[in-house]
Amino acid sequence: MAGRIPQSFLDELLNRVDIVDVIDRRVKLKKTGKNYSACCPFHEEKTPSFSVNPDKQFYYCFGCGATGNAITFVMEYDNTEFPQAVESLAASCGLEVPRESASGRDGTSRSDTSRPLYDLMAKVAQVFQEALREHPEAKHAVDYLKGRGLTGHVARDFGLGFAPPGWDYLLKIIGDNDQRRQQLIDIGMLVESENGKIYDRFRNRVMFPIRDRRGRVIAFGGRVLGDDKPKYLNSPETAIFRKAQELYGLYEARQKHRQLPRVLVVEGYMDVIALAQYGITYATATLGTATSKTHVERIFKVCPEVVFCFDGDSAGRKAALRALEAALPSLEDGRQARFLFLPEGEDPDDAVRAGGAERFEQLLDSAVPLETFLFQFSAQGLNMDSLDGRARMSKIALPFLRQLPEGVYRQLMFQSLAERTGLELASLLHLESAPEDSVPPPAYPEAELQSESLDAPLPELSARAGSPFGERSTRDYSNMAQAAIALLLHRPDMAKMVEPHTLGELEGQDVTLLIELIQLLHRRPDSSTAMLLGHWYGTPQGDLLNRLAGQERLIPAAGIEHEFSDTLRALIQLPADSKLSDKVDKLKLTNYSEISDREKQELKQLLAVKAQRDAQRSKPE
Ligand code: UTP
Ligand code: MN
Repeated sequence: MAGRIPQSFLDELLNRVDIVDVIDRRVKLKKTGKNYSACCPFHEEKTPSFSVNPDKQFYYCFGCGATGNAITFVMEYDNTEFPQAVESLAASCGLEVPRESASGRDGTSRSDTSRPLYDLMAKVAQVFQEALREHPEAKHAVDYLKGRGLTGHVARDFGLGFAPPGWDYLLKIIGDNDQRRQQLIDIGMLVESENGKIYDRFRNRVMFPIRDRRGRVIAFGGRVLGDDKPKYLNSPETAIFRKAQELYGLYEARQKHRQLPRVLVVEGYMDVIALAQYGITYATATLGTATSKTHVERIFKVCPEVVFCFDGDSAGRKAALRALEAALPSLEDGRQARFLFLPEGEDPDDAVRAGGAERFEQLLDSAVPLETFLFQFSAQGLNMDSLDGRARMSKIALPFLRQLPEGVYRQLMFQSLAERTGLELASLLHLESAPEDSVPPPAYPEAELQSESLDAPLPELSARAGSPFGERSTRDYSNMAQAAIALLLHRPDMAKMVEPHTLGELEGQDVTLLIELIQLLHRRPDSSTAMLLGHWYGTPQGDLLNRLAGQERLIPAAGIEHEFSDTLRALIQLPADSKLSDKVDKLKLTNYSEISDREKQELKQLLAVKAQRDAQRSKPE
């Protein structure tokens, strides 16, 4: 197999070719202002919404969202694979494509090194399944599962197994040599203690294999048979398991349906399985993490509707809000997201066992559409009869709406907001493009989240007004990082305005990507937007970069450098901000006399820092 094409060559290639030539040779382009346009070659249309940006060397379609650089265009248009597209572009400018040696570190592809790990995981799953059938201690596990109403049939569909008690069941059966033991440690099935002792991670637990989209077992969840803690033990992250990307049960659901009608997102393994037991075979669960954009994208790849199912308590509402945010960017026309809030203290497992499938499906039918949830949330606790209340509501709702992709749904949502607030659509759109409004991401007024039901009004508005942070109390890293990335893609030269290490303390995928972008630009200050896109091509980060590059609306007409530095500054201040709002929340919940002097002191300091900063912010520049 030919080795990998070095990144440096891809950069050079993108530097040499002009995307306008490349595309114009295949689709006639017309100059429109700074850019070129045409009818999009990737979807049917009568008026041109396909645009090519010569400065940034990438294309974007406002109709279908197709986007990328010269290489991706050739791949999509000529319907070829990456290496062929590179070869063809290289040939057009007389370059030879170099290859890294196949034996080198870069030459070994992930699948080559991971293959034995998948095979071993399959073996482990088999050992646990056999133990559930044959091990002398398995009776307890079988009784437990039966006691929860499961049949052998469903246990088989989900590949349930049993990790017998003791420290070395798996170790003895398959950890029979050093290499095997190391691999079992690598996939999280064995644990090596500090003094070098090796033992089984999962002991005396019912085992739930977690399968990837191709049905390969990549991890396990294990439940105790009684009330011991922790109730569930999960595999750690490994080379083949990225917790935040996987959905438990999605593979099994797809096995049951040629075309999934919808996908239900619930919280627990047992919820998925109990629903399946009752014939609701399209439930999935996140693995103890919040719903991510990756989750939502994966669902929309296989069906047009997702229903998020949460507890009706405040934690459930918070989780729902996270899911809402994760879903917004994926809500292209034709896709739908809804929310089902179960009575407090009842999970889907309880609900379906209490009322059966029919009752549960009725509940599902009553799930509220995303728009209802969003607008109710935004209006909560506000007096919608007053102009002030309506203006506040639009301020809360707008940052959410802005995350919707272009399309009819987005337009309808803006229209609907206009109707609800009595504000002119035009003025909302104006608000939308106002620079000072283009960065702040959705604010989550914490007080609203604590309200138990959507319809229940907040005790009083002053809960919010009393917060020193008001609506900005918890800003979201991810959105700010994305805003910064969008600006940077627009003007890569701005990377020199920032030292990557100043962002070093922040966490999160998007922040990490932002830091990597800045680092790359420090190493190669001349990189164009297209080169940056090329660098991450084919990865989830690449998809995000492509999307952000196309979002011209994140870019202010003027003052872009200002905007960039403001966004970064706000991002750097986030940890302090959220620490402060945590403290304030705590204060609201506790009696002042119960707070320790140290905490009072700390709060005072935080408030002082904030006051100073706010004073600086409001100074005219
Ligand atoms: P729940 O406690 O709601 O799970 O946790 P459940 O499925 O209802 O549990 P039982 O079996 O009916 O009592 C929801 C999810 O949170 C993760 C698991 O993914 C679980 O399915 N979790 C929970 C853990 O990872 N560890 C724990 O100790 C508890
Ligand atoms: Mn449960």
